Amino acid sequence: MSRSAHPAGPRHADVWPEGHYSAPPADVNALDPKVWAQTVTRTDTGEVSVGGIGVAALAEEFGTPAYFVDETDFRARARAWRTAFGHDADVFYAGKAFLSRAIVRWLHEEGLNLDVCSGGELTTALSAGMPADRIAFHGNNKSTDEITQAIEAGVGRIVLDSFQEIVRVAHIAQSLGTRQRVQIRVTVGVEAHTHEFIATAHEDQKFGIALADGQAAEAVRRALTLDGLELIGIHSHIGSQIFDMAGFEVAARRVVALLAAVRDEHGVELPEIDLGGGLGIAYTSDDDPREPHEIAKALGEIVTRECEAARLRTPRISVEPGRAIVGPTAFTLYEVGTIKPLEGLRTYVSVDGGMSDNIRTALYDAEYSVALVSRTSDAEPMLVRVVGKHCESGDIVVKDAFLPSDLAPGDLIAVPATGAYCRSMASNYNHALRPPVVAVRDGEARVIVRRETEEDLLRLDVG
Ligand code: LLP
Repeated sequence: MSRSAHPAGPRHADVWPEGHYSAPPADVNALDPKVWAQTVTRTDTGEVSVGGIGVAALAEEFGTPAYFVDETDFRARARAWRTAFGHDADVFYAGKAFLSRAIVRWLHEEGLNLDVCSGGELTTALSAGMPADRIAFHGNNKSTDEITQAIEAGVGRIVLDSFQEIVRVAHIAQSLGTRQRVQIRVTVGVEAHTHEFIATAHEDQKFGIALADGQAAEAVRRALTLDGLELIGIHSHIGSQIFDMAGFEVAARRVVALLAAVRDEHGVELPEIDLGGGLGIAYTSDDDPREPHEIAKALGEIVTRECEAARLRTPRISVEPGRAIVGPTAFTLYEVGTIKPLEGLRTYVSVDGGMSDNIRTALYDAEYSVALVSRTSDAEPMLVRVVGKHCESGDIVVKDAFLPSDLAPGDLIAVPATGAYCRSMASNYNHALRPPVVAVRDGEARVIVRRETEEDLLRLDVG
């Protein structure tokens, strides 16, 4: 963080307030391609456009706040993952990041598979035509109804997360007269360098079955004895928004070691491993994410090397990126409502959304960028905090960023990289109406998830 004095924005003597920000940008109008979707650009007039349509027209037609997804970018990212992993591996898009029927169709067309973790996600996927055998079903406490729904639909795999579930899935499959393909999710004991709430492979958390104390080997033993199950592999997911490949490499090594132990004990070579999702994206210019081809190469090499050393056939690898595909492809468009300069601190900019459309800042202390998108400005940058309209002081969308000091009510500002875990974690707090998701491509914009209405709220309120 730079604490150098800067000529613009509220400040107190030479001390900048605490925050995440680095120095003010050289050009406050610039759009860093690392954090903005592929077709986002500034037009000659200074307005920002996506898919060839200016934000003013988008705001006019669809209102604000709203999420705009760059379909071209989404498809390109999905394809890049598919191509990087080739024919000997599978890419399961993690639907929890953001799922809608249009998204399912794009994934299907681009040759990806899908990871779902609830009956609702499964229903959405099936209703949009994703073949069931390309769906993996996850979750640490799937209900009996969900398991039944998944098996009846014919999902390609269920990922088992506990000893109870091994028995439960086996029993339901058997009672339906079938054998369900399953993987066992193990916790490999890696401390992922990310926020505590989104790290999932250390031992003290709710997911998976621990490798360390022989529990995972015991889970395999039990699964192999049950008629209702066809054990096809081992699954590991170490966490989310991770940049360092080392954790994935340790996980891959430990999962392969389990495959070798299973072969030695049972004479069975499990044909698949899934290394989960979790690859980080750029939320600000300071982040440097890995490209899919680098990830595919690193994982492929480590698995091949470890399998050769253990004299195992190399299993089919799958991965489950969610954020890395959808995250960078969308931005949230807001209208500025009020502006409050706080002397010696920073300027609070209130927008027409907030923690109901992006909970990540409040929940994980996540960092975001922001830009004035309805025009350019030559004014000096000022340090701002972008906040929402909810009755809560933690209702922060962007903790610290720079916007031009002539910002005014009615200006449109946009927060990039909101494709993942924003609409999917949106709430109705204060009876806010969840914003629409609009797909933009080649000069055309269409709503793929419509804006909630007050009638929607009242429809649920049956008292
Ligand atoms: N596979 C499994 C089994 C997962 O649990 C997850 C994410 C993924 C794949 C996809 O991870 P991704 O590639 O999207 O990082 N709400 C948090 C993230 C929670 C992730 C939960 N599981 C956030 O907003 O950062």
